[in-house]
Amino acid sequence: MPRHPSPRRYLMCPPEYFDVVYSINPWMDTAKPVDARLALAQWEDLRDRYRSFGHTVEELEPRPGLPDMVFAANGATVVGGRVLGARFAHSERGPEAVAHREWFAGRGFGEVCEPVHLNEGEGDFAVTRSWVLAGRGFRSSPLSHAEAQEFFGRPVIGLDLVDPRYYHLDTALAVLDDAGDEIMYYPEAFSPGSRAVLAVLFPDALLAQDADAAALGLNAVSDGLRVLLPQAAVGLFEPLRERGYEPVGVDLSELLKGGGSVKCCTQELRERS
Ligand code: ARG
Repeated sequence: MPRHPSPRRYLMCPPEYFDVVYSINPWMDTAKPVDARLALAQWEDLRDRYRSFGHTVEELEPRPGLPDMVFAANGATVVGGRVLGARFAHSERGPEAVAHREWFAGRGFGEVCEPVHLNEGEGDFAVTRSWVLAGRGFRSSPLSHAEAQEFFGRPVIGLDLVDPRYYHLDTALAVLDDAGDEIMYYPEAFSPGSRAVLAVLFPDALLAQDADAAALGLNAVSDGLRVLLPQAAVGLFEPLRERGYEPVGVDLSELLKGGGSVKCCTQELRERS
């Protein structure tokens, strides 16, 4: 099946202050040192690949004292130019939401909403053509799903996450084609009911195996053709190629120490619906 990439606009935040000084997910071990220079080089490699594919990358200025700010996907969700801000579950990350809302102000986006309910941006919201898929169970509140549905005017499908390693939706599910409704996901990360819902909505989805999920292979970003994903998720490459995608392996091993990879570092600015 021929695939057509479309130009994207992303918001990323350099890992200038990245570190693991608290632990809010099972990947974070404060005893493991972080190589800040390597983290920056790996992040720049990701940014430059997007640019080499013709995408626009905006940079959000990092702030001291916010070591997880590199995970820019969590700071907001933008659909049709409307910006739903984040409200973080852990106080350590709280001020990141403000930094994101401030960035959007005066940049020509539609409404910028400070949410009432907990939601960690694109960490838990994934946008396909027909739906907004929404994770809950660890971070985002189920109440945020109704809030997102009202704000975006799109049907929101709530999905229950049950494995603490996959604490955000974007650690267990990735949108491959948002002009269609194509995704890949790791079924075991979801409750039986949510698995059944995914099977109904996405009967042709690519299902990931344990090892690829554990390499955070679902934390991927697609432009409709190229799928950037952690290079260690080797089992996903061939199935992606069979579907007409071009997998692009990226090494973000330092950022993995914070529990994030490609998608976590990348917030998509969807100006049009
Ligand atoms: N240390 C961060 C946290 O636990 C990692 C966030 C990863 N981001 C993501 N979109 N999954 O909140």
